[in-house]
Amino acid sequence: MDVRLDGKSAIVTGGSKGLGLAIAKEFAASGANVAILARDQSSLNDAKAEIEKVAKGVKVLAISCDVSKAGPIEAACKQCNDAFGKVDIFVNNAGQSTRGPSETITDEQWQADLDLKLFAQIRFCRILMPQMKQRKWGRIISVLNIGAKAPGADSAPTSVSRAAQMALTKAMSMEGAPHNVLVNSLHVGVIVSDQIKRRFDRERPNVSFEQYVADAGKGVPMGRMGKAEEFANVATFLASDAAGYVTGCAINVDGGRSPVV
Ligand SMILES: NC(=O)c1ccc[n+]([C@@H]2O[C@H](COP(=O)([O-])OP(=O)(O)OC[C@H]3O[C@@H](n4cnc5c(N)ncnc54)[C@H](OP(=O)(O)O)[C@@H]3O)[C@@H](O)[C@H]2O)c1
Repeated sequence: MDVRLDGKSAIVTGGSKGLGLAIAKEFAASGANVAILARDQSSLNDAKAEIEKVAKGVKVLAISCDVSKAGPIEAACKQCNDAFGKVDIFVNNAGQSTRGPSETITDEQWQADLDLKLFAQIRFCRILMPQMKQRKWGRIISVLNIGAKAPGADSAPTSVSRAAQMALTKAMSMEGAPHNVLVNSLHVGVIVSDQIKRRFDRERPNVSFEQYVADAGKGVPMGRMGKAEEFANVATFLASDAAGYVTGCAINVDGGRSPVV
């Protein structure tokens, strides 16, 4: 099987760290031009340098963009279209977890979570999907969590935003299918990333980071947390021609952690 992305151009939101950076690296190593989007320019510059080490002969753009706002999204899409001539692959990955007992979540917190996750997907796809349909080739991948299918207590607003994105992904897959625009979601369980490192720093447990990761992995049926590279491999497969008959799927990448398929 040939999993290559030669000649393709991709946008990966949240591409400066964690899962987004791993995806952008694998895309670039597989031959795609890649634009990474995040807010902090200095992390973006470091990530761009890291990607360029593994990618030869492709363009890498590092664009500061707050994806919770419409204006920066429009500007970033224009910059990518100008630089690459087209965008074939869109990965909606930027995010962070806001959670608590549902009665404690304010309107502002609900709105901010929906803007960052659901409306980012709506706004990017409104711009990018018509071009993909016209060219008869496109891939849209939404990075969600397993709470989209099986929300737990205190998981609002994040699990609700994720469930809405999963429904949007299915609806878009129906619209994209006749035009060879394939739309899928990937559902994260626990995967080692900068987010997990920040959680470790916040909680300051009396163990090393390696031990913290090993302990957190004990609750997963496979007995360990996932690696960002393992997640990126699945995203790269979905983005490639090798996944040419896969659309409208919500795929868990969670070591078996979700109670539902
Ligand atoms: N790792 C896990 O176990 C896990 C579990 C469940 C769900 N997820 C989801 O998977 C995705 C990736 O997670 P991760 O663990 O890789 O997170 P991470 O290491 O914290 O990276 C998050 C990325 O998103 C960017 N970002 C955050 N807010 C943004 C905004 N408003 N506009 C643009 N970029 C923004 C960050 O850059 P800036 O801060 O510079 O903007 C960073 O590049 C997220 O959607 C997360 O919710 C991850």
